[in-house]
Amino acid sequence: MSAARKIGVALLGYAFMGKAHSHGFKSMPHFFYPPPAIPDLVVIYGRTEEKVKEAAINYGFRRYVTDWRKAVGDPEIEVVDNCLPNNMHVEPTVEAIEKGKHVLCEKPLARNAEEARILRDAAKRARVKTMVAFNYRFVPAVQLARNIVKSGLLGRIYHFRARYLQDWIVDPNFPLVWRLKKEEAGSGPLGDLGSHIIDLGRFIVGEFKSVMGMVKTFIEERPLPEDPSRKGRVTVDDAFEAVIELDNGAIGTLEASRFATGRKNYNNFEINGEKGSIEFNLERLNELKLYLKEWEGKAIGGWNTILVTEKTQPYIERYWPSGHIIGWEHTFINEIYHFIKAVVKDEDIAPLGATFEDGYRNNVIMDAILKSAETGRKIEVSF
Ligand SMILES: NC(=O)c1ccc[n+]([C@@H]2O[C@H](COP(=O)([O-])OP(=O)(O)OC[C@H]3O[C@@H](n4cnc5c(N)ncnc54)[C@H](O)[C@@H]3O)[C@@H](O)[C@H]2O)c1
Repeated sequence: MSAARKIGVALLGYAFMGKAHSHGFKSMPHFFYPPPAIPDLVVIYGRTEEKVKEAAINYGFRRYVTDWRKAVGDPEIEVVDNCLPNNMHVEPTVEAIEKGKHVLCEKPLARNAEEARILRDAAKRARVKTMVAFNYRFVPAVQLARNIVKSGLLGRIYHFRARYLQDWIVDPNFPLVWRLKKEEAGSGPLGDLGSHIIDLGRFIVGEFKSVMGMVKTFIEERPLPEDPSRKGRVTVDDAFEAVIELDNGAIGTLEASRFATGRKNYNNFEINGEKGSIEFNLERLNELKLYLKEWEGKAIGGWNTILVTEKTQPYIERYWPSGHIIGWEHTFINEIYHFIKAVVKDEDIAPLGATFEDGYRNNVIMDAILKSAETGRKIEVSF
């Protein structure tokens, strides 16, 4: 068999997501052999020369630049992967699309719906592939949950209840990092964590119809990272709660917080239908809990834990024999495989991948939650 062709990749950002994505690009051909293409890690962008140079060595990029335009405009590049903070999603992504590059962009797509619309429209006009990096769609147990709901096994769906809880800023002396500033992040855990559970609700159950929201900022001022003797204002939510109604008649709740003491990355959802329920918790990502009222006409009762490591489950045969668990990093490998395959074979990003339309709708729903929190009214979601 002849070797797959190479595909030039530019990575914008080298921090948390830069590390996760570059690992994904490198590992994809190893597991998804023969790969649709072999990612060629051409160039990585970061603002600080010393740090981006180190990241290029660490992650295996051939070049580094401190001007993102040089990465996006590089003729060797076919794919731009935007792992920058949220205020840096629009400009580099639009420029990449206009230069004919395929773009994988981190979530939330933008700081708000107005910005997300710019990206959605740019993607619509272009012939390139664009995808939002909602990586939890690529957990095998999440795809199994979606398949179960879509198959009708649970019958009519009554509830989607999701929470995404962390506790990394409980200490009031934790510094005012970019995630705590509206100008850079757009919103707090709403955009950071809530965007994931909104996406999972849309992916597994269906479209949103209306929302009622409440947001809270517990610690109003925090030390500045550059000078801890001075404080600056926190301009985003520290936590949000929302009551939701979906188009199919289901109702539910969403919750995200960075003040859920003891919770580290608790991304959990439960779906209740007329014939049964399912529950997922990211911290046990190889498992899906299933409750069925009856099986072949007989009441069975009780919750069952499915270890989602059978070869028949999505992506599993690419990794290890049944029963050999996978981890969080595999969500990025699966996501990158899906994206590169769509680029090379000219396949659709949807329905498994999140399109820029999905990213835009996600931002519209978050804006509606914020508007509801501000006005105290239920808001009908309008796309
Ligand atoms: N899919 C996921 O599960 C997931 C998880 C975490 C973050 N994210 C998303 O990934 C993106 C990046 O987040 P992260 O956690 O990797 O960031 P991070 O907090 O780890 O680091 C941000 C980096 O960006 C740099 N930076 C800040 N402002 C910049 C600017 N104007 N230009 C260039 N660089 C700048 C900082 O120096 C830092 O190195 C965000 O959109 C975030 O929402 C997604």
